[in-house]
Order: sequence, then C-alpha cells, then structure tokens
Amino acid sequence: MGAPDLASGSILADAAGTRSAPNPARSASPAHAGASPAHADPRLALVGSDTEVPLVSGEMRRFVNLDYAASAPALRAVHDAVEELLGWYSSVHRGAGFKSRASTAAYEGARESIRRFVGGRSDDAVIITRNTTDSINLLAASLPPGTHVIAFAGEHHANLLPWRRLKAHYLNAPATPALMLEQLESALSALPHGAAARLVAVTGASNVTGEIWPIAEIARVAHAHGARVLVDAAQLAPHSPIDMAADDLDYLAFSGHKLYAPYGAGALLGRRDWLASGDPFLRGGGAVKLVSIAETLWAELPERQEAGSPNVLGAVALGVACDTLAAVGMARIAAEERELLGYALGRLAAVDGFHPLRVWPAEHARVGLVTFAVRGVPYDLLAAALSAEHGIGIRHGCFCAHPLMVSLLEISDAEVHRLFDETRLGHHERLPGAARASLGLGSTRADVDALCTALDTLVADGPRWTYSVDPDTGMYEPDPDPRPLPALGMRLVEHPTGHASLHGHAHSHGESA
Ligand SMILES: Cc1ncc(COP(=O)(O)O)c(C=O)c1O
Repeated sequence: MGAPDLASGSILADAAGTRSAPNPARSASPAHAGASPAHADPRLALVGSDTEVPLVSGEMRRFVNLDYAASAPALRAVHDAVEELLGWYSSVHRGAGFKSRASTAAYEGARESIRRFVGGRSDDAVIITRNTTDSINLLAASLPPGTHVIAFAGEHHANLLPWRRLKAHYLNAPATPALMLEQLESALSALPHGAAARLVAVTGASNVTGEIWPIAEIARVAHAHGARVLVDAAQLAPHSPIDMAADDLDYLAFSGHKLYAPYGAGALLGRRDWLASGDPFLRGGGAVKLVSIAETLWAELPERQEAGSPNVLGAVALGVACDTLAAVGMARIAAEERELLGYALGRLAAVDGFHPLRVWPAEHARVGLVTFAVRGVPYDLLAAALSAEHGIGIRHGCFCAHPLMVSLLEISDAEVHRLFDETRLGHHERLPGAARASLGLGSTRADVDALCTALDTLVADGPRWTYSVDPDTGMYEPDPDPRPLPALGMRLVEHPTGHASLHGHAHSHGESA
C-alpha cells in the first residue's frame, strides 16, 4: 500500500473526526460494534509481521511479538512515507533549495499531525524530541525555579528521575484510583502556600500493570490546587484516544517508537510559557535569533527547544503514524485491544502457577499488557525459553520501574539495601523481576494461544534446552545458543551479555522449572 496522502488532507480530515470519539477506557460499549475489525484494516499493516526467526532446535518459526510495550514495529504506511520523503530529503527551515522547502513542509506538517492526534490546543507548543524520556527531561529543565513537583513512586524511571533535581514529593499509589485521588488532594493541600509553581507528573497508563490512570480527574484535582499536570503518555498513546484539550491536560509526552514509528522521534506538547522562558534545555544552532560572544537571543518556540539539526524523518514518521491511527480510529483500535486483552487474561489465568502483577482492582481499565510471574519458573528462564524454543518475544526484568517492582514483588528494605551494596561493589546481581507480555496492532488470539501453550509446556515439563546464567547479567540464556543472526546488509556486533555461551558456564538444565 502507498503512504497516506498528506497533501490531499483526507487522513487529516478523518483524524479530526475521531478525536471526539469516546475514550474506550470510560465507555461501556465497543466503539467498533458492527464494523469490520480495525486490526484487519490494510492501513494498519506492519513491517515484518511475518518474519520467521530461528529456534534453538534449528526450526524456523513465525515470530510472535508480544513486546509492543517496549517498542512497536513500524506501520507499513510510516515506512512508505519515510521512503517517499527520502527522495525529497534536505535540510529544514533555513535551506533555500526546493527540497528544503518540501522537507520543511513535511516536518511542520508532522507537528500538526501530532497535535491533532492527541487533541492539542492550537496554542500549545509541539516540540519534537527524541522520545518520552527526552520530553520529560526537557520539561523538568524548563520549570520555574522552586516548582513543587508531585509524582507517584510507581512511575517509569523516565517520569521519576528527572524530578529528583527539583522539589519532588513522591507518593505511593494506593490500592484504588479513588484513594489515589484523595492522596493527591491531600498532598497538594499540604504544599507550602506561596507563589511557587506546582506540577503533578503522572503516567497515562502504567508500563508494568497496564492500568489506565484517570488523567482528567487528576487534572481537575491538580488545577483546583493551582498545579499543572504532565501526562507520560508513552503507553497510553498507542492504545487509547487522548484529548488534551477536553481533559485539560497541560503537558503530554510520548515516543514514536512505541507508536509504530521507530525512527527516533517523540514529542512534548503543552503550555508555552514555561517552555518559552529561561534558557532552553539544549543550546545550539537553530535555537537562537542572534548570538554574540557576550549575548544570546533565544528563538521563539518550538525552535527554541529544538537546538541542533532536527530529526526530520523521525518527526514525519511519527506524524504519519498519528494520521494513520487516527484515520482508522483510536477508539476502535482500543476497543479491539481490550477484547483481546480480556481473552489473554482468561487464557493466562488457566496456566498453572500464573500470577499477574497489579496495583488496582482487576476490573480497572488497562492497556493491552500483562506483567506476571509463573510459580517455580524464574522470569528470565521463562523469557529465554519462550524465545529459544517457541519464537515468542516478551520483555522481562524490572521494566525501568524499580520502586514499583519492589513494592509489587514485596521485596524487603533489607534486600533492597543488599542489592544496592552488591551493585555498588560492581557485582552483577540478578535483580528480582517478572515477565511482561504486551499486545498491539497485529496481535491475535493465535499469538496469545502460542504464549499460553508454551507456558503450559514449560510449567509441565520444564525447558527442553539447556540454559546457564550469564555472569554479566545474572540472567538465564540458552547455552549453547546455536541460533544464527540473520544475514543483514550491515555490520552486526553481538551484545556480549546476550551471548551466554561466550562465558562457558555450567549448564543448569531445567533448574527450578
Ligand atoms: C510509561 C513509560 N514512560 C516512559 C517511557 C520511556 O520511553 P522512552 O524510552 O521512549 O523515552 C516508557 C518506556 O518504556 C514507558 O513505558
């Protein structure tokens, strides 16, 4: 299929229409009732969806991707649009050549597509960044001096660590969303009175539990106390409609690589004043109006916060992903993912020893991911065996959310201190962790069935291959690992920690499984 026709505006017109669709996290009936499935829509075709991968047995198997939450494959429409633009690629903004004019128009068009996709206000800044981490660090660096930041301890590190340099108050998320709102209310009430700015930084959907946070209510509570709200939408944007204006969200951050546009761009949207005052996060060419050795006059937004040559292809990829998803309808996509998640949770519950990790009650709305443990099977062995023996890709570990995992896995303070001490000493400790299966466009019941069948086999019979612990990571890896890397037309250097047999360690066939 070809790239979306940006010039005709047809997709943009559709995109505008879908923004007013109900948020499936809040509506009772599937938005796609009676319509053909959104996931079968050819506009949502993905690159590499039928790739075969080697198993340790020597067989080839269609790759079962259950790792969308970490990074999602490119939409074919995104790939095609990038390829199309490459023929017109040139420097943006300052180039006098005709190709610069075309590339600049595509870059600025992407900004508009991104704004529309998340319902940004016409006066919001739309800043192209590298990813969510970059976006949140940019906002953290732009806060007025003395800003009080309230964040929850269960956040991804990207929405936890940037606030450390500031006056940050970390709250534990209590057992229900209602209690969380009460806790937020009292934390805001307890802030010292005065003129200092306030910011509440929350996730839109947890990358560990998938739980969708009530962002409109959070914004209401925050605003009642004179605070602004940042939503980390890294996990929400690929799975749910977002309407910044309707929900009164001040700032929103998300990543292209989780939104089917893995070309290195993300976005930060929001109120202009903080982002337009003070020095920019990055200093350099493009962010200035005038420079002398003694003085700098910074440019207006968005250029002020986009120093250096912009990632034009990444921005365009993200813009086309936004237009494509919006044209099909995020409400439909979300409703179908919710159905598939329900199926997955039902199937997984039947796996002997399956234990899902969650903070809020099971019936709370969530995006399509499940983090879990299986009794008797170390999480890293489980992930290694799913890949090596079944061609299934999941994520395992602590998901860049150490404080939340410590609480979900009920790890004692003493054990946390021990892990810090060992790690400081340079020992490669195996951290406690879990497995996560995540869904996206192209995920099917057959994928879920493949996962559950593999887990059943693993629980019943243990692994069929040998695995050993990599001393660099403390994690299980197949040993030996005979799977050849694909023959690609580029240099491949294998990451040493992913190659256990390099270290020649003792086999521990089927240990604990
Ligand atoms: C909830 C959440 N926030 C932030 C991030 C960071 O995203 P990125 O690595 O694209 O900056 C992630 C990535 O996994 C995430 O899941």
